[in-house]
Amino acid sequence: MENKIWKGRISKNTDEAVDKFTSSIDVDKDLYLYDITGTAAHVIGLNKIGIITESELKKILNGLKKIKSSIEAGQLDTGMYEDIHSLVENELGKIIGEAAMKIHTGRSRNDQVVLDERLFIKEAIIDLLNKIIALQKNIIEISLKSTDIIMPAYTHMQKAQPVLLSHYLMSFFQNFNRDKTGFLSNFEGSDSLPLGAAACAGSGYNLDRKFLKNILGFKYLDSNSMDTVGNRDFIIDFIYSCCKTMLHLSRFCEDLIIYNTGEFSFIEIDESFCTGSSIMPQKKNPDILELIRGKSSVVAGNLVQSIILLKGLPSTYNRDLQEDKKILFSAYQETSSSIEIFKKLLEKIKFNTEKIADSLNDSFLEATDIADYLVKKGESFRKAHNIAGKIVKYCIDKKIIFTDLKLDRLKGYSDCFEKDIYEYVNIKSCVSNKKTDCGTSKKQVIANIESSAKKIKSSELELKKLKERITDFNEVIEYIK
Ligand code: ARG
Repeated sequence: MENKIWKGRISKNTDEAVDKFTSSIDVDKDLYLYDITGTAAHVIGLNKIGIITESELKKILNGLKKIKSSIEAGQLDTGMYEDIHSLVENELGKIIGEAAMKIHTGRSRNDQVVLDERLFIKEAIIDLLNKIIALQKNIIEISLKSTDIIMPAYTHMQKAQPVLLSHYLMSFFQNFNRDKTGFLSNFEGSDSLPLGAAACAGSGYNLDRKFLKNILGFKYLDSNSMDTVGNRDFIIDFIYSCCKTMLHLSRFCEDLIIYNTGEFSFIEIDESFCTGSSIMPQKKNPDILELIRGKSSVVAGNLVQSIILLKGLPSTYNRDLQEDKKILFSAYQETSSSIEIFKKLLEKIKFNTEKIADSLNDSFLEATDIADYLVKKGESFRKAHNIAGKIVKYCIDKKIIFTDLKLDRLKGYSDCFEKDIYEYVNIKSCVSNKKTDCGTSKKQVIANIESSAKKIKSSELELKKLKERITDFNEVIEYIK
């Protein structure tokens, strides 16, 4: 490995195995854009305080532009460097010579790497929010079309009560809403300038941190250099949010895998989103859903990895922290690709309304409503529950359904039964009987969909504002014009 930026103190050449073992370029090269952007801002700051001349600054910025383009064009042999930071400094040296030796004045890789990671996470959050919003819009669209489809809700994976399909789908809208809140708060937690911390004690130069904060688009300034270089809470928090999003997707996928079985046949996944078997010709498998469920465990693992990485680590920077990027990138990439493909799959799902309707029979989904009916006619709930339970047991024994029972027979259980019972407990009424504003009555579900659609509008506005809090390379170099 060439071009070590720290070689003065170490007289021997490092063993090749050491070079290989300590190198992080294969992973952190993905931070190139943030490293170059951060470096541009730092040198503009150095110029402002008289450490870099006007002409050196121009050379450096032009050099950085060239490095950026050659990385993007795949023309750079990244493998010969230890990490992205030494790559940028050395490549700059090749292009502009001596002036490149000044760029690391007043900073350390310890604050530089935190800067790169924060810039990365801010953009990653924007991407994830974008994708979550698109998925939520999809859910709203499908829900609006399904307000007349009644399905069984399950508890303990046993048929429980009838609900609107829209109500079921919108339950996931709420999951993803909480995910957005999490990511928004992660954005705040990552939106702070680390530069100025240097290795751990702060910089010996009078860096204009407010200026750096502004040109890099940060909202806050880190206030303790020792904390800055050892803090990775913002990474743990971000991965936690990814993990929760994956958890929500995984549960949604699990439902859909079950609903897609021959036994249920509630849904049909579009063939363009299914895979076959190498041996069983008849198979059409829901691999996408299974993979998302599988990937959710990878991201949960990433969360644990990030926590264990920090636990027991002495304060400030330790090289262990280099491992954080693999974990961070994995969590982000798995989450981003999962939301995106899930949205596409959901868009094309067909609901088998006949099968869903068939599933509503024979399972006493109206039992709770029978009890509620009796309460409305004057029974206590516990007595009513008991009576309804006995009726269900009787029907099961006789292999009949509730509506097969004549009023006389019902009166044998309770005098409160009248002929309006049959109307009160038909499946549609069971749905419309629900009075609470979080329940499944059509009126309420539609109101909830409408207010959710409004929330989406405000999320989109919020996202637009967040985008304004991102500064890219071109905007940074605008500052010198
Ligand atoms: N590659 C290192 C990392 O990712 C950069 C910081 C190195 N700092 C150091 N003092 N060796 O953490």
